Amino acid sequence: MLKTDYLIIGSGIAGLSLAVKLSERYPERDICIVTKGDRDESNTKYAQGGMAVVTDVLTDSFEKHIQDTFSAGAKEGDINVIRNIVEQAPDRLKELVEWGVNFDRSRKGELSLGREGGHSEHRIVHHKDITGLEIERSLLYYVENQKNIRVFQNAHAIDLITEHHLGKKVRRGDEIMCFGCYVFLSEEHRIEAIISSATVLATGGLGQVYQTTTNPIIATGDGIGMAYRAKAEVEGLELIQFHPTALYHTELKPSFLISEAVRGAGASVINAEGERFLLNYDKRGELAPRDIVSRAIDQEMKRTGVDHVYLDVTHMIDKFIEEFPNIYSKCQELFIDPTLQWIPIAPAAHYAMGGVKINLKGRTSLKNLYANGECASSGLHGSNRLASNSLLEAIAISHNIFLDLENVNSIDTSYMNIPDWYVQNSCEVRERALIEFIRSEIQQTMSRYVGIVRSNELLNRASTRLSVLYAEVLDLYKTSNMSSAIIELRNMIATSYLIVEQSRKRKHNSGAYFNSDLV
Ligand code: FAD
Ligand code: SIN
Repeated sequence: MLKTDYLIIGSGIAGLSLAVKLSERYPERDICIVTKGDRDESNTKYAQGGMAVVTDVLTDSFEKHIQDTFSAGAKEGDINVIRNIVEQAPDRLKELVEWGVNFDRSRKGELSLGREGGHSEHRIVHHKDITGLEIERSLLYYVENQKNIRVFQNAHAIDLITEHHLGKKVRRGDEIMCFGCYVFLSEEHRIEAIISSATVLATGGLGQVYQTTTNPIIATGDGIGMAYRAKAEVEGLELIQFHPTALYHTELKPSFLISEAVRGAGASVINAEGERFLLNYDKRGELAPRDIVSRAIDQEMKRTGVDHVYLDVTHMIDKFIEEFPNIYSKCQELFIDPTLQWIPIAPAAHYAMGGVKINLKGRTSLKNLYANGECASSGLHGSNRLASNSLLEAIAISHNIFLDLENVNSIDTSYMNIPDWYVQNSCEVRERALIEFIRSEIQQTMSRYVGIVRSNELLNRASTRLSVLYAEVLDLYKTSNMSSAIIELRNMIATSYLIVEQSRKRKHNSGAYFNSDLV
């Protein structure tokens, strides 16, 4: 058993930024970050467009950013949460800069501001088209130089430790305390109980439950699965954002993103008939919020019987090459020449608006358990996230958790008998192929039946298929040796199940949610 003051699960912006703040404020306390793969692997690393912040008060205002966020979220966001996050953005930006993040600036030293769908002003601070990589690099550098932060790589959180593990019967709705987490150390092939005064889920997204996604392989909904099993409240999982412009390529997994900032800089979306069609769907055209653009593309692909449309940058090629060098070079690598040809694109699962329910302080419904970043549901996004608001949300909620942790006392673990992990019926290693096979069945089911446009029939079919897979996964989990693959599979099936069941419960369309039977 290992003890720490603060246990942070995940090393993206949500986890790292909190660790940095805590280590500066409490140099005498111990902070543990566990992360299931390499320390830099995360959704954060792939963020392109940037972070939305009001910096130019002559043309922009907090009020405008608040209204853009509220309106992109179909007026279902929590206005207090939106205000808190938007208004602290300039301070959080300042901290990122102090921690070494380089945001692009003009020759005069002014921040260079991009624009994306749903934003009424240019307000996206960025580092070329690799903003996330720059943030991840800087935060990790900082973390590695702090003596009181320990980072465990290849450390896969399995389950939160609650009273249930101490032999107490707990029901959903009871006050439940979280004491830490069981973690599978994959290189040593053993399981460690990590006990902590406060545990923070910062496990990121769930895009991998879909066949086509912009999310890297680690985005398997682990935090949501763990929280759900520990009986924490999870909400809004029916709200999946599909990014309109992922590069269409049959062999590329995950899908490579073509940033919305490219449309912000002037690119046009063209259908199979060569027509620029988005203005037929919304007067903001290419810069309408994502849910509108993705649904329009989906409809256009169905109407013309094809599986992709195109992005045209030929009229702005110099700007494209200069501002989006990473995207340009990816196109070249795939033998797509954006100077001469349109880039094939299609929507892909990109972001989960819902997740583990938190309040503005980052507290979940379990005592001493916090959640932050994409795995959490703070109320900022309503039913559709405004572009480039998620890096901001993670860093702002980190700050709020940091403030709240001042009031959390160390838990006395001396009286507790936290049992070591009990490996039940461990038997011969089952074929990895079986796990892979179910993983891909889950992805197929989700993509076919629980995509951009849903219906009652599609959701019922998904539910039937997933219940069979759920039983198979639980059986496999009980009888397999512990592995990262089986941990992920167990979380993927739980998360998929929640997406489908929360979809079936939703009785109205709004934002990213669209069920054709509710029209
Ligand atoms: P992540 O960065 O995903 O980090 C999660 C961490 O948890 C990872 O280290 C992972 O390995 C670890 N983890 C997961 N499960 C476990 C487990 N069981 N045990 C241990 N560790 C675990 N948002 C913007 O605001 N602006 C953008 O420009 C932007 N562009 C994007 C582009 C792409 C291609 C993608 C995929 C997303 C983009 N987003 C953008 C969304 C944004 O990047 C994410 O929402 C945000 O980075 C999430 O941060 P996070 O810290 O919550 O999670
Ligand atoms: C993008 O660059 O298009 C992604 C921005 C986001 O998801 O917020």
